[in-house]
Order: sequence, then C-alpha cells, then structure tokens
Amino acid sequence: MVCFRLFPVPGSGLVLVCLVLGAVRSYALELNLTDSGKATCLYAKWQMNFTVRYETTNKTYKTVTISDRGTVTYNGSICGDDQNGPKIAVQFGPGFSWIANFSKAASTYSIDSISFSYNTGDNTTFPDAEDKGILTVDELLAIKIPLNDLFRCNSLSTLEKDDVVQHYWDVLVQAFVQNGTVSTNEFLCDEDKTSTVAPTIHTTVPSPTTTPTPKEKPEAGTYSVNNGNDTCLLATMGLQLNITQDKVASVININPNTTHSTGSCRSHTALLRLNSSTIKYLDFVFAVKNENRFYLKEVNVSMYLVNGSVFSIANNNLSYWDAPLGSSYMCNKEQTVSVSGAFQINTFDLRVQPFNVTQGKYSTAQECSLDDDTILIPIIVGAGLSGLIIVIVIAYVIGRRKSYAGYQTL
Ligand SMILES: *[C@@H]1O[C@H](CO)[C@@H](O)[C@H](O)[C@H]1NC(C)=O
Ligand SMILES: *[C@@H]1O[C@H](CO)[C@@H](O)[C@H](O)[C@H]1NC(C)=O
Ligand SMILES: *[C@@H]1O[C@H](CO)[C@@H](O)[C@H](O)[C@H]1NC(C)=O
Ligand SMILES: *[C@@H]1O[C@H](CO)[C@@H](O)[C@H](O)[C@H]1NC(C)=O
Ligand SMILES: *[C@@H]1O[C@H](CO)[C@@H](O)[C@H](O)[C@H]1NC(C)=O
Ligand SMILES: *[C@@H]1O[C@H](CO)[C@@H](O)[C@H](O)[C@H]1NC(C)=O
Ligand SMILES: *[C@@H]1O[C@H](CO)[C@@H](O)[C@H](O)[C@H]1NC(C)=O
Ligand SMILES: *[C@@H]1O[C@H](CO)[C@@H](O)[C@H](O)[C@H]1NC(C)=O
Ligand SMILES: *[C@@H]1O[C@H](CO)[C@@H](O)[C@H](O)[C@H]1NC(C)=O
Repeated sequence: MVCFRLFPVPGSGLVLVCLVLGAVRSYALELNLTDSGKATCLYAKWQMNFTVRYETTNKTYKTVTISDRGTVTYNGSICGDDQNGPKIAVQFGPGFSWIANFSKAASTYSIDSISFSYNTGDNTTFPDAEDKGILTVDELLAIKIPLNDLFRCNSLSTLEKDDVVQHYWDVLVQAFVQNGTVSTNEFLCDEDKTSTVAPTIHTTVPSPTTTPTPKEKPEAGTYSVNNGNDTCLLATMGLQLNITQDKVASVININPNTTHSTGSCRSHTALLRLNSSTIKYLDFVFAVKNENRFYLKEVNVSMYLVNGSVFSIANNNLSYWDAPLGSSYMCNKEQTVSVSGAFQINTFDLRVQPFNVTQGKYSTAQECSLDDDTILIPIIVGAGLSGLIIVIVIAYVIGRRKSYAGYQTL
C-alpha cells in the first residue's frame, strides 16, 4: 500500500496575488511518499513550467506557457518495488501529466527520464490547434546521485525537445530514502557548484546534466527539384542545424521524412528549398564559376524556434561543395557549412548535383578532400617506393660509370 502526505504549499497567498495580477506563476510542488510502514521512501520538492509551441488551424504557430497552478494530484507515484523503480507522477490543469522515474545501481541512484504529456484538444489552453490529441515528450536524463544523498539544483535547468521547452528550478529530490529519514547530505548539480555568487542565482546556461546526450547523426534524405517532368537537381544528405543564441547552441537534426523540397533550376543558378513544420525555408543556392565548376554560394534560412520567435539568417558569399560541372559533389564525412557565427549546418553522407542531372541520376562524383585520406596512404607508400627505385637506379648508374672508367684507364 502507498500513502501520500501532501504538505500545504508555502506562499500560496502570494500565488493568489499573482493570479489576480494575471501573471502565470508556478509554485513549489512537494511530495513526501511513504511506504506501507509509513516511512518516507521518496521526497521531492521542485518548481517547473513549460512552453509549448503548436500549429493553429490557419497554419501559424502559437506558444503557450504552462505552469502547475490549479489542482495538482500525484496519482501513480510509487516508492518502487522489485519490478518497478520509484516514480513521481503528477497530474495538473486540464490534462497535463508529468512522470519522472528513478533506478538504483550499487552505490548510486539516478533520475532516468522525464516524460511530459499535454492535450492539444483542450481548447482553453490550445485555442485553434490544428491537430487535437495527446502529445508526449520524453527526455532521457541519467543524472547519477550517490545513494543516501539528497539532490539539490537551485539553478535553472532547461530541457528542449520537439515543440516543448521545460524549465526546472529549486529542485530537491531523494529516491530510495533510507530508514525513513531524508538525508542531510546534499549532492549539488554542477551549476549550483559553479555558481559562486549565491546558489539561488538562476543561470540560463543549460546544465550538462540536463542537456540531452550528444546528438545522434541525422538521417540522410534525398531531395530533388524538377524542371517540368525531369529532375534537374539532386541532393542526398543528413542535415544538422546548429543555432547559437545568447551563447547557447541548439542542435537540431532534420528529419527527412517530414521535410519537403522545392526549388528552381536555371543555367547559372539553382535553388534547393527545404520546408517543414519548423523550417519556414532553408535555401541552398548554387552558382557556376568560370563556366566549368559549380559551388554552394548562398544559404538563406528562416525557422521557427521553440519559444515562438523566428530565426533568420542569410549569407550569399559562401564557397562550399566545389566540383566540375557535369559531375556531383560527394562527402561522406561530417562537414560544416558555416553560414554565420550563429548558424552552422553540419552535413553527413552528402552528395549533391545542382546542374546537368541526366535521367534523374547522379553523374560521377568528385569527392571532398576529407574522404580522400584512404587513398593518401597508398600515395605516400607509393612515393616512398618510387624514391627508393630512383636511388637504386642512380647508384647503379654511378657504379657502372666507375667500373667503365676503370676499364678505360687500363
Ligand atoms: C517559467 O520559468 C522560467 C524560469 O524560472 C521563468 O523565467 C519564466 O518567466 C517562467 N514563465 C512563466 C510564464 O511563468
Ligand atoms: C491566424 O489566427 C490568429 C488568431 O487565431 C490571428 O491572430 C492571425 O492573424 C491569423 N493569421 C492569419 C495569417 O490569418
Ligand atoms: C487521483 O486520486 C484521487 C483519489 O485517490 C481521485 O479522486 C482522483 O480522481 C484521481 N485523479 C486522477 C487524475 O486520476
Ligand atoms: C521510465 O519512464 C518511461 C516513460 O514514462 C518509460 O517508458 C520507461 O519504461 C520507464 N522506465 C522504468 C525503468 O520504469
Ligand atoms: C539505517 O539503519 C540501519 C540499521 O539501523 C543502519 O545500519 C544504517 O546505517 C542506516 N542507514 C542510514 C543511511 O542511516
Ligand atoms: C555548434 O556551434 C557552436 C558555436 O559555433 C560550437 O561551439 C558547437 O561545437 C557546435 N556544435 C555542433 C554539434 O556542431
Ligand atoms: C523515416 O521513415 C523511415 C521509413 O518509414 C523510418 O525507418 C525512419 O525511422 C524514419 N525516420 C525518422 C527520423 O522518423
Ligand atoms: C526566443 O529565444 C531566443 C534565444 O533564446 C531569444 O533571443 C528570443 O528573444 C526569444 N523570443 C521570444 C519571443 O521569447
Ligand atoms: C532570403 O530569402 C528571403 C525570402 O525569400 C528574401 O526576402 C531575402 O532577400 C533573402 N536574403 C538573401 C540575402 O538572399
């Protein structure tokens, strides 16, 4: 049997005042979970809010901020047993649910993951939502904490995924509480350790513990542009966008399944334009130089950020992906197109042909120098061998001359 004891929330008077002022303000959530023997097994106190972006019926995007005001229930929270780890489950507002789960190793326990669900069918929170239904974002955290330590993170932690930005601060949590007593040993998150001013100062730098594990390689997609019935431009690539704002880089992998391509082909310029629900446009403009080579001349991008603002940048003075006309440019290794200090595109398994595509197929490829190091080794070995042969030939010739000269003196 599991029992909950919910403490009255301190500062609820303040919350009321804020609501009267019309501001959205979240207040601390607190959970003291006890086991069948009424001993505390899990304790947590924290603050959170969420920013959700959604598409409206007229194809524009709206963002709403959701905080946990109103009725909060903790149904489904468990101490954990042999089969299941401990879990904090929170329900609030119209149809929001939040779950954090924990697991234990020999000398540590960890906050494994957080899952947040919202219902865009709720017209009060998500008016004019195009798609109505329950959406869930899962974040893997794997924050490791020594057993019997209370985890504290007063600093602001930000998690960003899909259309949701999650904010957490003033976090205190201990799972696997021993002997029913919450520990007095605190284990601080890295931000709290480094914030020398005061632990309660909120930094906006996302914490290393909460940034998702390094981005996986983006999936490659094939994009094409048609001129009448014929394909006139082909591009196959995995794309990763890196946007740096306020010194924080967000790395976004483009999903080719949901990205659409259009464009145009002219004799000296070609355009590949990608669109998706988050990318208003991502233009690659190719040009011809010296009548015999092509290159990537311009990138022009405009995308919707998770907080609803639009990020746009263009640079028409680039020089990447240079290859002879009539061939394609290929680079399997990761390459970076640096559009500006704030915007980079990392490409993977790239092959592109913006001109002279025949029968919808790539022509022979010119490979990037990055891919060439496999043939570099035979070249070095070959060069070494031919050097040796030359030395032998010279030595032979000198030897022959000497002996010939020897005969003459006779
Ligand atoms: C959500 O939390 C962040 C971090 O504390 C705060 O800066 C922001 O104002 C909050 N948003 C709302 C609408 O309360
Ligand atoms: C879309 O709808 C919102 C309100 O729902 C309105 O503010 C906005 O102007 C509309 N945009 C267009 C392009 O119709
Ligand atoms: C949570 O549990 C309480 C009583 O145990 C019940 O009244 C309430 O409906 C439950 N809430 C949800 C969202 O399941
Ligand atoms: C943790 O939560 C996620 C999402 O709710 C779930 O899929 C996963 O199975 C859970 N892990 C454990 C160990 O319970
Ligand atoms: C819990 O109680 C046991 C037995 O009294 C003791 O050996 C152990 O050290 C206690 N653990 C903690 C974390 O206090
Ligand atoms: C993103 O850009 C920043 C700033 O230029 C850089 O430090 C970081 O390494 C880049 N990340 C990736 C995955 O390219
Ligand atoms: C794209 O679609 C393919 C085939 O349906 C699937 O295997 C792949 O996982 C999808 N990729 C993503 C990123 O959703
Ligand atoms: C969205 O976030 C970016 C960077 O974090 C910031 O520069 C911009 O002002 C934000 N826009 C809004 C509308 O909050
Ligand atoms: C980028 O594209 C937009 C929209 O097509 C256009 O208005 C703008 O002039 C372009 N910028 C550059 C530098 O080409």
